[in-house]
Amino acid sequence: MKQHSLRPLFTSEEIQQKTRALARKISADYRDGHIIVIGVLKGSFVFLADIIRHLTLETTIDFVQISSYGSFRHSTGSCTLKKDVGVDIAGRDVLVVEDIIDTGETLHFLLRELRKRNPASLKVCSLVDKPSSRTKIIPVDYFGFTVGDNFIVGFGLDYDERYRSLPGIYALED
Ligand code: IMP
Ligand code: MG
Repeated sequence: MKQHSLRPLFTSEEIQQKTRALARKISADYRDGHIIVIGVLKGSFVFLADIIRHLTLETTIDFVQISSYGSFRHSTGSCTLKKDVGVDIAGRDVLVVEDIIDTGETLHFLLRELRKRNPASLKVCSLVDKPSSRTKIIPVDYFGFTVGDNFIVGFGLDYDERYRSLPGIYALED
């Protein structure tokens, strides 16, 4: 299997620090609330597992999975819901947790679907924001890091299903 060279971007300690800060902000914003946290599979599962353990809120956790088409680097916009949530979100406060927002096509699709179900509120928390190739305007309420036009891996993020289990975040150099 081809070995890529991986350039370190964020260490596991930096990610933990950022995650705790984000969780404090979210906990303060929803104060004593009960939120539905929806993780977007698969990339968000590591970040989601960490952030929920720092929230001082009651949570209901669920997941969606979305198929998007395009090259390995970018979505092109035709998305389908491959796995839906199993809970009713009507009248509830919903926080969508993503690993990275790139073109914004995936979240644009998901937020439109979720809005149809009339949640009381709908916010987005992404570990990484990559604004350089954005094609859809997405209101990102909480994000940890901003990166340039690099393909990144680790901490849940993959390249062809590899590197998800790395504790830090790296830029893939080829
Ligand atoms: P978008 O629809 O272009 O915003 O893409 C979002 C999805 O593409 C993310 O949830 C990731 O799964 C994947 N993705 C985009 N950029 C990267 C990257 O740099 N590394 C790993 N996955 C990425
Ligand atoms: Mg993803």
